[in-house]
Amino acid sequence: MSGAVPVSSGGGLPPRAVREPTIVACPDGPLLVRGDVTITDADGQPVPRRRATVALCRCGVSTIKPYCDGTHKAIGFTTA
Ligand code: FES
Repeated sequence: MSGAVPVSSGGGLPPRAVREPTIVACPDGPLLVRGDVTITDADGQPVPRRRATVALCRCGVSTIKPYCDGTHKAIGFTTA
């Protein structure tokens, strides 16, 4: 079972799949967020999201927070 649930979008458009939200903590890296979730800033404003799967920085040095830009590798970030 894929977890995808077909949802009618109304207006005659074909149904789209809604994925159950999941968050995966990558070892020594970001949090991978998948599924239909809204990411907001500290003020509750939605943060633009262009992909179905996004990586949230948890090392604190990304230049595109809240998203990961890969810098965690350069600084040797570890989660252990
Ligand atoms: S976790 Fe990747 S830049 Fe912070």
